[in-house]
Amino acid sequence: MNSNVAPIATGELEDGGAGMSRSSEPENTTLKDEARSRQKMISIRGLKKSFGDAVVYDGFDLDLPQGQFISVFGPNGCGKSTLINMISGLMPMDAGEVLYDGQTINETKISYVFQNYREALFPWLRSIDNIHYPLKVMGVPKKKRDERVEQLLADFEVKIDLNAYPYTLSGGQQQTVSILRALVTDPEVLFLDEPFSALDFEMTLFMREQIQKIYLKTKTTTLLVSHDLEEAVQLAEKVLLLTRRPTQVAEIVDVDLDWPRTTQITTDTRFVDLKRHCLDVFWREVKAT
Ligand SMILES: Nc1ncnc2c1ncn2[C@@H]1O[C@H](COP(=O)(O)OP(=O)(O)OP(=O)(O)O)[C@@H](O)[C@H]1O
Ligand SMILES: [Mg+2]
Repeated sequence: MNSNVAPIATGELEDGGAGMSRSSEPENTTLKDEARSRQKMISIRGLKKSFGDAVVYDGFDLDLPQGQFISVFGPNGCGKSTLINMISGLMPMDAGEVLYDGQTINETKISYVFQNYREALFPWLRSIDNIHYPLKVMGVPKKKRDERVEQLLADFEVKIDLNAYPYTLSGGQQQTVSILRALVTDPEVLFLDEPFSALDFEMTLFMREQIQKIYLKTKTTTLLVSHDLEEAVQLAEKVLLLTRRPTQVAEIVDVDLDWPRTTQITTDTRFVDLKRHCLDVFWREVKAT
């Protein structure tokens, strides 16, 4: 166990916060406090990561609420991919700890969608079998698998021939299959690393709409790394803005806009203001010496 890990607030509050002060506080406040204390969090403490001499993270702390869509945006090479790779357990940390509401990554069901869909799907499996694959590995019986996949395809309004092998599909179709495969297990946390960056514009707009629809339906905690600020703001409840290396949190911007967020929202004054604010923070960090 790492020694520089600070205690995680949620667990402590859950045990102590609700019961102790109940009698002395007005009912409304107590209820609100209880609700707040029940908010599940992803908590990162004392994160360190270097590649050779390049220090990417050196004592990085962050709390992110679960059940929200969070975009990650920051300067090139600041460590966005490294961050989600470490949070998701794909890459080891040099030091630090990540807890999902007090649980370790191994006790949390996660899915990851990679930017490079061409290398992510199994070429020897038909698309439908790629989607079934995680459930098969989990030992879910065929009947249950079929039901789950059918439901997912209906939710996602898939119009792809899923009996086709991935290499015969377009890039957008392949990435759709990757996303379906990631969602089929009903993950607690979904990681997306620039998932639309290899797609054409029309496909990107379609995929944003689909991802948003799924999020609104399931409220799965989603971490999206995006190099497109408009996309980052449009899809998210919070935009996590990062500094240059050694990377820290520059700001976490709340995106308090109505859902669903169609492309029309991008011309709304409040949207434009939020995007402008994120851009100001970004430029401040890029120019910082
Ligand atoms: N496996 C690795 N070996 C050596 N250096 C690495 C490795 N992975 C990342 N880096 C370095 O760590 C830093 C952060 O990389 P990372 O890919 O996380 O950045 P990013 O913010 O995702 O960048 P981009 O905007 O280009 O996607 C970069 O300087 C990169 O060169
Ligand atoms: Mg990256």
